[in-house]
Amino acid sequence: MSKLKSLLVNICRLLLALTFIFSGFVKSIDPLGTQYKIGDYLEALGLAGVVPEWVQLGTSIALSGLEFTLGVLILLAIQRRLVSKITVGLMVFMTIVSLWLTIGNPIQDCGCFGDAIHLSNTETFVKNVVLLFGAIVVMRYPLYQTRFISQNNQWIALHFTIIFIFAVSLLSLYHLPVFDFRPYYIGQNIKKGMEMPKGAKQTKYKTTFICTKNGVQKEFDESTYPYNDSTWVFVDTKQEVLEQGYEPPIHDFSITDDATGEDLTEQILTKEGYTFLLISPHLEVAQDRNFGNIDGIYEYAKENGYSFYGLTASTEQGIKHWRNVTGAEYPFYTMDGTTLKTVIRSNPGLVLLYKGTIINKWSHNDIPTIEELNAPLPMLTIGREPENNTWTKILAMILCYILPLVVLIIADRFLAWSKWVKKREMWLKEKEEWLIKHEQSTKLYQLLKRKRQMRKKIVAGNWKMNETLQEGVALATEINDALKADKPNCDVVICTPFIHLASVANVLDKDLVGLGAENCADKEKGAYTGEVSAAMVKSTGAEYVILGHSERRQYYAETAEILKEKVQLALANGLKVIFCCGESLEEREANKQNEVVKAELEGSVFHLSAEEWKNIILAYEPIWAIGTGKTATSDQAEEMLAYIRSIVADKFGKEVAEETSILYGGSCNAKNASELFSKPNIDGGLIGGASLKAADFKAIIDAWKK
Ligand code: 13P
Repeated sequence: MSKLKSLLVNICRLLLALTFIFSGFVKSIDPLGTQYKIGDYLEALGLAGVVPEWVQLGTSIALSGLEFTLGVLILLAIQRRLVSKITVGLMVFMTIVSLWLTIGNPIQDCGCFGDAIHLSNTETFVKNVVLLFGAIVVMRYPLYQTRFISQNNQWIALHFTIIFIFAVSLLSLYHLPVFDFRPYYIGQNIKKGMEMPKGAKQTKYKTTFICTKNGVQKEFDESTYPYNDSTWVFVDTKQEVLEQGYEPPIHDFSITDDATGEDLTEQILTKEGYTFLLISPHLEVAQDRNFGNIDGIYEYAKENGYSFYGLTASTEQGIKHWRNVTGAEYPFYTMDGTTLKTVIRSNPGLVLLYKGTIINKWSHNDIPTIEELNAPLPMLTIGREPENNTWTKILAMILCYILPLVVLIIADRFLAWSKWVKKREMWLKEKEEWLIKHEQSTKLYQLLKRKRQMRKKIVAGNWKMNETLQEGVALATEINDALKADKPNCDVVICTPFIHLASVANVLDKDLVGLGAENCADKEKGAYTGEVSAAMVKSTGAEYVILGHSERRQYYAETAEILKEKVQLALANGLKVIFCCGESLEEREANKQNEVVKAELEGSVFHLSAEEWKNIILAYEPIWAIGTGKTATSDQAEEMLAYIRSIVADKFGKEVAEETSILYGGSCNAKNASELFSKPNIDGGLIGGASLKAADFKAIIDAWKK
C-alpha cells in the first residue's frame, strides 16, 4: 500500500515538476511576451493603464522565474512540505483563473505555456484540475517524495536555479528570446505563413443584420434580409463563428499607408532583394538609445538600393515625436500593435527580409553598427540567414545549468554514501570491539546475559482509536484464549481505549495478559470535562498506561511538561508507564535522533527517583516507522536502544539500565519481530496495526520462542 502511495506521489510530483519547469522556462525566455499577456489580463479586469509597464515587466520576470524554480524544487524534492503547500496554493489560484476564462472567455489563450503551446480555455481548465489533484496528493504525503539531494546542499541547487532563470530572462530581454516560438522566426517566409493549405477547412461564420422599422428592431440573416422592402432601415451587423476552420500561423500581417489608405502588404512582401523593417508598436515609449545606428542603416540601405520602412501602431503624433528625437527620415507605415509585438520582442526592433523571408532580427541593443555594414549585404554574414542553432542553444542550456546541477547531485549522493559507509564501518568496529571485550570474558558475558534475562521481555499492543466495545471485547477474548492454549514466553500487555478497559479486564486472565490505557489526564481529579484520571484507569483493573506517544505529542500538543505531570500521576496511582520516545524523518535525516530522544526522556522521565524508575518501560518509536510499513532495520533499532540504555545508565547507573525494559515500536509485525527481538538491547515491541488481529499479535509474541 505504501509502495503504491509512494509511486502515486512521485508520479504526481514528476508531472507537476515537468509542467512547471516547462511553462516557467518558456515564459522566462520571453519576458516581454509574458508582460503583454499580463497586460491582457489587466485589460480584462478593467485595470488597463493602472499598472505601470515596468511593474508588469517585473511581475512577468518574477512570476515566470518563480514557476520555474518551483518546478525544480518539486523535481529535486527540496523543502518538501513547504513547497507542496505553495504548489497547492498556486494551483488553486490558477484553477480559479482558468475557470473564469472558461466561463467568461475574456482572453482567448491563457498564456500558460507562452507561445510554445496554445491551449483553449477549456483545455487549460482541465489541465489545471489534473495538476491540482496531483498537488493535493503530494501535499497529503509530502515525505513520500524521493529526495535527490541532501538537506545540507539544497540551498546550492536553489540559489543556482534562481540565478540561472533570472539570467536567462534578462538575457532574453536584452537581446531577443533565446528560443523563438512565434510564427515570425528566422527563416519564415511571411507570405507562405499566411497561405491556406489546399483543402483546408474554412471558418464558417453566421452574419446577422439588425434593421428597424417604425421603432421596431428585428434581426435577419442573409436569406431573410428584406432587400426589396426599403421601409426597413439597416442598423448594424453581428458576426459569430459557427465552425472554426484552419487558421494559418500568420493571419494578421497587414501593412497600410495611412496617408493614402493603400495596403502595402503584398508590395513589401514580394519585393526583390533586401528590406529592413524597423518595428515599433509604440514609438512614444520606444528605446531611442541606438537611433544613430538605425539612421546609419537607413543611409546604408539607400546607398545600396535596399528598402527601409518603419512599421508602427502609433498615431501621427507618435511618429512625429520619434522623428524629432531621432531625426528619422525613413517612411512609417501602420500595422496592428499586437502583430508588431509578435513579430519582434523589442521596441524598437529591426527585421531584415529577403524576398519576404525573415533572414535576421535584432533587438534595439544589438542593431548592427555602421562599421559592420562595410559592404553590400550579400557579402556580409548578416545579409545571410544564420544557420539554425537551436541545438547549440539547447546544448548551452545543458552545459550551463543541467550539467552543473547533475554534477552537484552526483557529488552530494557520493558524499552521503561515503558518510554512510564510514558510519557503518565505525559501528561495525565498535560492535566487534564490544563483542570481543564482552564475549571473550565469559564471566562478564554470562553476567550480562543473565542481566538481560532478568529484564522483562514484553510485547504490548496499542489499539489506538480502533475497535468498538463489542469488537474490542471479542479481540481481547481471542488473544486471551490463544495465550491460554499456548503460553507466551514474555509479558503480554494490551492497551485499549478507555471505554474498553473495564469490560476487557473482565475477559483477561491477569496472569497471562496485562491491561493498559493509551493515555491518562495530567490532572488528579475535578472539573476537567472529558478527561480520564490515572486513578480511574487504575480502578478499571488496568495496570499500565502508554504516555508520550508521538501521536499525542503531535496531534494533542502534549509537551514534555504535560507528560511529566502525567507520568507522575500514573506512578502515584500504581500504574506502570510505557513511555514512548522517537524522532521524525527530518530529524533522522539531519542525524539528530539521539539528541531528540535524549531531550524527550530528560524532559519527562529523567527526574524520577530510582524507585519510581522501576515502573517505567521505555518504547522507542521512530515517527517515520509508525503505521508506514517502514520498519527501522534491526541494526538501526539496536543502535538506538543501546544508546538509550547508555543514557539511562548515565542517569540511574549501569545496573538500573540493565534492568530497564526498552521496546521497539513502528511497523513491527510477525515477519520482522524475530529479527528485531534477536538484538541484545531490544526487549520486545510496542505493536500498533498488527495488534488488532489476534493471529498477527500472537505470531509476534511467539517470536520470543525462536
Ligand atoms: P504500528 O505498529 O502500526 O506502526 O504502530 C506503532 C505504534 O505506534 C505503537 O504505539
